[in-house]
Amino acid sequence: MTKTGQNMILGTGHTVPDKILTNADLEKIVDTSDQWIVERSGIRLRHIAEKGAALSELATEAARRAIDDAGLKVEDIDLIVLATVTGDMKFPATACFVQENLGARNAAAFDISAACSGFIYALQIADGLLRSQPYRHALVIGGEILTSMVDWQDRNTCVLFGDGAGAVVLGPARDGRGILSTHIGSDGAYSHLLYNAGCGCINMPTVENVQEKIHTLRMEGKEVFRHAVVAMSRAMKKALKEADVSSEDLDLVISHQANLRIIEALAKRLKVTEKQTYVNVDRFGNTSAASIPIALDEARKNGIIKEGSLVGLVAFGAGFTWAASILRL
Ligand code: UT7
Repeated sequence: MTKTGQNMILGTGHTVPDKILTNADLEKIVDTSDQWIVERSGIRLRHIAEKGAALSELATEAARRAIDDAGLKVEDIDLIVLATVTGDMKFPATACFVQENLGARNAAAFDISAACSGFIYALQIADGLLRSQPYRHALVIGGEILTSMVDWQDRNTCVLFGDGAGAVVLGPARDGRGILSTHIGSDGAYSHLLYNAGCGCINMPTVENVQEKIHTLRMEGKEVFRHAVVAMSRAMKKALKEADVSSEDLDLVISHQANLRIIEALAKRLKVTEKQTYVNVDRFGNTSAASIPIALDEARKNGIIKEGSLVGLVAFGAGFTWAASILRL
């Protein structure tokens, strides 16, 4: 028997800052080249926010578009779950600023932190709360201004990231559609391979810490790459099994957009074709928790996927964390 979901995606939206940073621009900042960046990551350009811009602004715009797309009013939203590691402030939650911007008076709002896997974690949490609480509609947002924590002198990382936000509205499923399965996992043994040690309680913003750029992102790219491919393929296989479908059945796989080579290696492991694989990392770079909802919205709006399509989402990020979900749109 085909599995059915209890909640489905009713609408999607995304937004990115207007400002574009090309590989040629980066050549002027660090010792790099367009050729190296394209060959090693597939990235050609990324959108970046102005210094001091608020993530809540991007997240609010993405949310408005998703609510409009769902044909709902802001008062219909009962829950706002925002996945990010680059919120406006340490607290309160950026989701509360989004709630205020939208005027979503009836919603409970909070943030979650699972780095690049955050959106699928948030989807899982929202789906669970919709099932267990008297809520009907949840806004699930993935958003980052990751360039706010980039060390612009570190060529190993500064060429990789971009900013943006994507959102979906979840609500009651019908016609055999909905979230068929979700698998999330993590392994804290690898936290030292991708982290930002500043901005927490251990490393206060002292003059020494600021001078040592303790508040910037650090990554062992090669190690992260290796783990990402293995963990994402394992997570996706679990989600496929749970949904009782095979990779051949998928109309589209939307994997976290960190690196074209990772996306291709994953496709090979999952035995999915180029046609089944969505790629926009060339135009956005790695937008962390925003990458999947941005891609999902693009793929829906340009007609690659439509009502009834079977879609696999899969992500990997700091923690390490990983997550996969199978949806019937
Ligand atoms: O979102 C969470 C998940 N994040 C990821 O999935 C990112 C995973 N990692 C990656 O995408 C890749 O590892 C990178 C794109 C970060 C790097 O690609 P790589 O093929 O693993 O290169 P590498 O780090 O091994 O560096 C190869 C060489 C090094 O030079 P030597 O030591 O061989 O002389 C680097 O110093 O490339 C050098 N290099 C650069 N050269 C020009 C590193 N960054 C740059 C650069 N421009 N921007």
